[in-house]
Amino acid sequence: MRSFEGGGGKGVNNEGCEESDSILHLVRSAHMRTHHQRSWLLVLAVLSVLFLFFYQTHLSRPEAADRPCVTEAELLIRTTVERLPLNKLMDVERNRLGQLFTQLSDELSTRNSARPPPPPPVRPIYIITPTYPRPEQVPELIRMSQTLLHVKGVHWLVVEDAEKRTESVTRLLARSGISHDHLLAPMPDKYKAKKGAKPRGVSNRNRGLSWLRANATTGVFFFADDDNTYDLRLFEELRSVRVLGMWPVGLVTYTGLSSPVVKGGKLTGFYDGWVGGRQFPVDMAGFGVSVDFLMQRPGAEMPYRPGYEEDGFLKSLKPFDLSEIELKADNCTKILVWHTQTKKNKPAKPLNMTKFANSNIGQLNLQITVEDTRRP
Ligand code: UGA
Ligand code: MN
Repeated sequence: MRSFEGGGGKGVNNEGCEESDSILHLVRSAHMRTHHQRSWLLVLAVLSVLFLFFYQTHLSRPEAADRPCVTEAELLIRTTVERLPLNKLMDVERNRLGQLFTQLSDELSTRNSARPPPPPPVRPIYIITPTYPRPEQVPELIRMSQTLLHVKGVHWLVVEDAEKRTESVTRLLARSGISHDHLLAPMPDKYKAKKGAKPRGVSNRNRGLSWLRANATTGVFFFADDDNTYDLRLFEELRSVRVLGMWPVGLVTYTGLSSPVVKGGKLTGFYDGWVGGRQFPVDMAGFGVSVDFLMQRPGAEMPYRPGYEEDGFLKSLKPFDLSEIELKADNCTKILVWHTQTKKNKPAKPLNMTKFANSNIGQLNLQITVEDTRRP
């Protein structure tokens, strides 16, 4: 077996040179050893750089979404390291490696300090929505929930004028993922029994107010009926209300519009198809109030007086000066909410469950509003 030991295979002919040759050999092998040691050190250094990178980009980030994309510095270091001919490591200038280390540590420290601070919490918006069981209820609330899904910081108070929570509404709210409370506030019997116009949604809205008094500390609220149409821009106008904000409402009725009248940037009165001796002839969808202001008015509530609900509620917020009313939607020049109405329909006749027994129709039957034939 051939041995490489001693490297003497070459043979040495010149005796006089033998001694100097072996010194040279010793020097060379010593040099080679340090050369090898340095190479290993450099390989080790490169591996540490790679490890540090791997650690920073993959292991130290719990969520993939938090990971920043590859930066220029990272790319530079990666490509340089890739280009390093590992077998000729000594050829690489040490300065270059030094620079890489500095660049890397700079990059890592800026990355850590440049992580954006968490966004400040948005001002909460409380939406008080009166609703009641009827064929249109679920479709209306689906449309409304899908509007509210676009709004940050919303807490939706869905208040039913009913003795018990409608299950399909409970399910819809849970499915929506919107922060909410599903409350009950049946209209008192004395108003229900009354002939003619009824105070619709009043018990619901007052329940919403008592919930706010017990649970809210800051933010704004707005009475948003379940059948209206809301432009997303409205919610940012509402969010900025400091005390009491007002804005125009488009009506789908013959009247067409309900709005504060603004001249020279000042509130001079109200435009509404029916004034009826009201001081504030505004639509329910035409104003928003700050929670702080409500807290300063512990007696504020909505009266059970059809047609005068808005006026009565606004009066119960007194004292305030008309000049304190904030004119939203660009000085009341934009319609960001529409008082729409859905045609009222009778509940469906009972489905033929004998013919469609043991089919999907049974499940679907539970999801629509069917006439209650048990009632006289
Ligand atoms: C208008 C106003 O915009 C309402 O704010 C006001 O309550 C109502 O008139 C009134 O003065 O009676 P309008 O579109 O005519 O609204 O009424 P609805 O949409 O039928 O009812 C207003 C809200 O109350 C709705 O969110 C509705 O779901 C709810 N509601 C209605 C009840 O909770 N119970 C009812 O029996 C009827
Ligand atoms: Mn309505």
